[in-house]
Amino acid sequence: MRMYDIIARKRDGEVLSREELAFAVQGYTDGSIPDYQMSALLMAIYLKGMTSEETAVLTDCMARSGDMVDLSGIKGVKVDKHSTGGVGDKTTLVVAPIVAACGVKMAKMSGRGLGHTGGTVDKMEAIPGMKTVLDQKEFFAQVNKIGLAVIGQSGNLAPADKKMYALRDVTATIGCIPLIASSIMSKKLAAGSDAILLDVKTGNGAFMKTLDESIALAEAMVAIGEHNGRRTAALVTDMDTPLGYAVGNSMEVTEAVETLRGHGPEDFTTVCLDLAGGLLELAGLGGFDACRALAEEMMKNGKGLAKLREMVVAQGGDPSVIDDPALFEQAALRYEVKSPKSGYLARMNTEQVGISAVLLGAGREKKEDSIDFSAGITLCKKAGDAVEKGETLAVFYTSDEEKAKRAEELYLSAMTFSETKPEPIPLIMAKVTRDGVVRF
Ligand code: URA
Repeated sequence: MRMYDIIARKRDGEVLSREELAFAVQGYTDGSIPDYQMSALLMAIYLKGMTSEETAVLTDCMARSGDMVDLSGIKGVKVDKHSTGGVGDKTTLVVAPIVAACGVKMAKMSGRGLGHTGGTVDKMEAIPGMKTVLDQKEFFAQVNKIGLAVIGQSGNLAPADKKMYALRDVTATIGCIPLIASSIMSKKLAAGSDAILLDVKTGNGAFMKTLDESIALAEAMVAIGEHNGRRTAALVTDMDTPLGYAVGNSMEVTEAVETLRGHGPEDFTTVCLDLAGGLLELAGLGGFDACRALAEEMMKNGKGLAKLREMVVAQGGDPSVIDDPALFEQAALRYEVKSPKSGYLARMNTEQVGISAVLLGAGREKKEDSIDFSAGITLCKKAGDAVEKGETLAVFYTSDEEKAKRAEELYLSAMTFSETKPEPIPLIMAKVTRDGVVRF
């Protein structure tokens, strides 16, 4: 078999076989196929597309390029959730403990912040002492004992994706649904859970900006999961405005704790309960409505919060910040951003809001940067709210005034004001399962 012929067949719009895809993925992972040939294949896929079955096979080959985590040592159904990334998205910190409190196991590997989006591992590391690296024995033992562990991606998980993602980044082949879907799902398949719920974010703070694109991505990922024997579903949720009111690591942990106490923001609480209900449904605990009600019960009776605390203790973290989030180290500077206009906040460029939080120290501008866990933004006004000139739009937390000024300029440029109240945007826009798409 020759890589040249595989590239030529895809260039001509043909469907590649499992043998051809395995040859290309394995060869690229072991270095026998050079970057220039894989770049050509990626561009041919970008231009000619892939069938649903071809994408599922590509994903399986990418998943098998490294370790396939075997979770059979953990008893019961294991579920996983994945968000395609957004601003203020701290759902794992609420959803995972609720699901575990219902007796469904979550052995979850999460990521760090990427670009303007935050990452669960960074948020967890805001908790003093919290370990996000466990060896396999510790990881399995913890999930068997308390039903839950959330750690950073470890081991040699889908190395083909790591190389292909880096190549796509510099060859203008990122924005292609079969390639995005196979990239995300290869890591989920390798991570070993029986069922997967995807939270596909849509809007100006998401990687997918339109609803149609987001639904197409969700459909591609659900097809990949089901084709590879995992129960898979997706919710398409709004990211045209940040989720909740807190953006920044320890601030988001605080908001997650408040939500587990039943006092969280309405939008964030709704998304968490819908995701938890969806995961419990995939795990076979009943229909969606009953599962969502069970999740809500875990919020009301405090068992979800108790489970989060248990996980923090198990992973070496200081639980006093869960009992009293005011004990988190506080930022040196509190800085209020005032509205330049009266009217309505019609639209927020959520990606720019995320970058403003990065400028305050909540994320990394360069790969090697360290994070200021206390830095971030409390939103006082969100898209759709009425505002008076001079009223506080947001409060910034950071280490010095220069950072606050830089972030303020960007933050204000991200706001669009209007005289009339904008139409509200639905929070949960669609659900995708193996039975099809339901738009809300
Ligand atoms: N996240 C991934 O892991 N891969 C993509 O291609 C895009 C987002």
